This record gives sequence, C-alpha cells and structure tokens, in this order.
Amino acid sequence: MDTNKKNAKAVILAAGKGTRMKSDKSKVLHEIFNKPLLAYVIDAVRNSNIIDFSYIIVGHQAEAVSEFCQKFYPQITQTRLQTPQLGTGHAVSFVVDDLKEFDGEVVILCGDTPLIKAQTIENLVKTHREKNSALTVMSAIFDNPTNYGRIIRDENGLKAIVEEKDATEEEKKVKEINAGIYCVNWKEISPAFSELTNNNAQGEYYITDMVKWAVNKGLKVDSYVLENNNEIFGINSKLHLAEATQILNEETIKKHLENGIQIVDPKSTWISPETEIGADTIILPNVYITGKNKIGKNCKIGPFSHLRGDVEVEDFVKIGNFVELKKSKIKSHTNVCHLSYVGDSEIGSGCNIGAGTITANYNPITKVKSKTVIKDGANTGSNSVIVAPVIMGENANLAAGSILTKDLEANSLGITRTALRVIKNWVKSK
Ligand code: UD1
Ligand code: CA
Repeated sequence: MDTNKKNAKAVILAAGKGTRMKSDKSKVLHEIFNKPLLAYVIDAVRNSNIIDFSYIIVGHQAEAVSEFCQKFYPQITQTRLQTPQLGTGHAVSFVVDDLKEFDGEVVILCGDTPLIKAQTIENLVKTHREKNSALTVMSAIFDNPTNYGRIIRDENGLKAIVEEKDATEEEKKVKEINAGIYCVNWKEISPAFSELTNNNAQGEYYITDMVKWAVNKGLKVDSYVLENNNEIFGINSKLHLAEATQILNEETIKKHLENGIQIVDPKSTWISPETEIGADTIILPNVYITGKNKIGKNCKIGPFSHLRGDVEVEDFVKIGNFVELKKSKIKSHTNVCHLSYVGDSEIGSGCNIGAGTITANYNPITKVKSKTVIKDGANTGSNSVIVAPVIMGENANLAAGSILTKDLEANSLGITRTALRVIKNWVKSK
C-alpha cells in the first residue's frame, strides 16, 4: 500500500453549541492571535500534506461558519448542515452521501481543538496505513481523565470507547482517553454511521460506538497514542481560550529561543505562531505580535511594540516603544523608534521615522485605506502626519510637525510649519 497517498479527506465537527463560551458568536470562530479556532484546525489538516479536502459539519451559527469557510478556504472545504445536533456519530452521517464513491481514508476531528499539529495528523494517517488498520483512534494518557471517553482494551486489543456518563467505576479508572480524532477506511467503516443507536446516558448517536461496531465486524481497530497532550486541548470556555493562547505562545517563544532569537521576558511577550523571526533579533518586554509576519535578523523590537499582521521587516531594523505596525514592509537599517503608527506602508532602507510619525492611511468617510511609500534614505521629523496615498522620494525629508498631503520629490524638504513668533518678556507682561 502506498503510505504517501495525499487524497485522504477530513470531516471537522463544528456544529455544537459551545454554551460555556457565553457568546453570541460560534465557538469555532473565536480567535487566538486574530485567527479563528476552526482556521487552526483547517490549516493543520491542509499542512499535513495527506488530506486534500475537508467537510465542515456546521449547526449553531451555521451561516457565519459557512461564510468564513467560503471566504477563506473555498477550494478545500465545504460545509454540511446538521440540524438538529443528535451527536458526534450523527454529525458524520452528513457526509455519507458526498463520499459514496470514495475509497480512501477519512480523518475525523473537532473544530474546537486548535492546537493539533499537522505533523500529528500525518503521523496518525501513516500509522494507520502502516498497520493496515480499518480504524485508528487517537488516544492520550491523562492523569485526570475525567469527562473524556475511556479507551477500553482486552487481550485482543482495543474493544470500545466508553463515555464518562456511561462508564462503570472500573472503567472510570482508565487513564487512556479518546482524543476525539480518528482515521477510518471509509468504505469499511462508513456503514456504521447508519447503524449507530442512541441507547446511552445522553441519548446521542456517539461516533465512539463505531469502535464496537468495527470490532464486531472483525475489522482491525488500533490506536495512535499522542505524544504531546496539549495538542488536543479543547476549548469550551473563555478560560480555555486564554489557556490555549498561553500554551501556543509558550511553544512559539521556545521555538524562537532555540533558533537564536533573544526574548528578554517570555512572560510578557506575545508572538503569533505565524511570525518568522531571524537569528540575533532581540524582542524586548511587552511586545504583542499577531497575524502573519516576517522579521529579519539583528532587529530590535520593543519594548511595548504592537505588530498587527502582514508586517515584513528586513534585517537591522529597530521598532521601538509604542509603535504600531500593520500591513507594512520595512527595508533594512531603518528605525521606527518611538510612538509611531505605520499602516499600509512601504518604507525603504536607511530611513529614520521620527517620534510620533503617523501614516494617516484610513479615510473614515469613504472607508478606503491608502498606501504610503517612503523611499530609501528618506526621513520624517517628529510628530509628522503623512496623509496617504502619498510617496516620499529617495532621501526626501519631512520637517517636524509637518503634514504631507502630496508626493515629495527625492532629496527635497517638505515643511508645513507656521513660522515661530517670539514674544519677548511675555511672562513679565502678564
Ligand atoms: C467527545 C467524545 C469523547 C472524547 C472527547 C474528546 C463522543 C461521543 N465523545 O466527547 O469520547 O473523549 O470528544 O474531546 O464523541 N458535534 C457536532 N454535532 C453534534 C455533537 C457534537 O458537530 O451533534 C461537535 C461539537 O461541536 C464538537 C465535537 O463534535 O466540536 C465534540 O462534541 P462534544 O459534544 O464536545 O463531545 P465530548 O463530550 O467532548
Ligand atoms: Ca468537547
């Protein structure tokens, strides 16, 4: 069997209500570093390099979740509506028609476990293929297994999954739990989804019952034991959301520290997982970096800088305190050291952006965002405002306190300052 086939499918369960989030928003659209939980799962599935398409099962806030998938993942996802929600097994039955002809593996996962890694999904499928199993359950060993389904084994191997609410005292002692992620040979296992019953404590059609079903049919059922339990951390509340953000941040910071980036205070530093940073860059305390960014080598970021995504910074750049950057490119050896907002901009190399420089990129009446271009060697004085769209030519200078509303030629000075008046002995006259 070809263990590298890349045409497996995924089913991502995301119809549940998420009552404990106490929110009008769908649970899976809550964000970590400005990215919805569901997007983390879809990205992990896509990056596993083994799955080419995902069905997303939606129910609560179905419209918003469908719109999100359609907008950001139109080629690789489709949503299927599950109403009412009668359980995880019932949810999977909504793709049975779509996959009638499909003869390959289907990976089933949940939309509320954003920390799952692409590599782990790939390992699950590879293990499944190598062992020639019909069904592989991802399991994990938890010191406190409460609330999870327990993996029940006998001398022949995996026998069943029993939910907490249906478990006997003896079964509750089992520390191996069901992670809620499965790989199944679709042709062999899919008939289970029309045969499951809801004869249990919750009156739901449990996906977990497919284990017993497969064992009874004499199919090969096995498990894949997770190495890092954090990966299946499920979000059910705002507390969990904060905890998951922290876990992800710690992982990200550890990776950067190992790659030669100096992070002075990991506890007050927040870096989104999609931020690349070059070696010997120093990140000072209280920096918040969200979205997708690329920071070069030998840069100095912070303290108190905010990078909001789509920021590209070349080598030897300084971003100082109370500087906010969004959707901008900054070339090497440029300084933006204090109190500036730079958005929708391209700044050349060797520039000095003076304290308090603002790129006024947004027109609140037309809602249009415009671009600022500052070419190599140009400088802006303190407290200058650049009203986009505008271009500052090479080595151009904008005087402190000036407002730039039209393009500035190379090597020229722009100045809108009113002349200084000096009133002698003013204090005495009062
Ligand atoms: C499930 C497993 C449990 C496992 C745990 C891991 C079952 C019966 N139990 O329990 O063994 O240890 O996950 O986290 O599967 N959903 C739907 N439609 C439904 C019901 C649920 O789409 O009708 C979705 C939910 O939105 C959620 C996921 O399925 O994303 C899991 O459902 P949930 O009710 O949270 O199952 P658990 O009780 O956590
Ligand atoms: Ca759950």
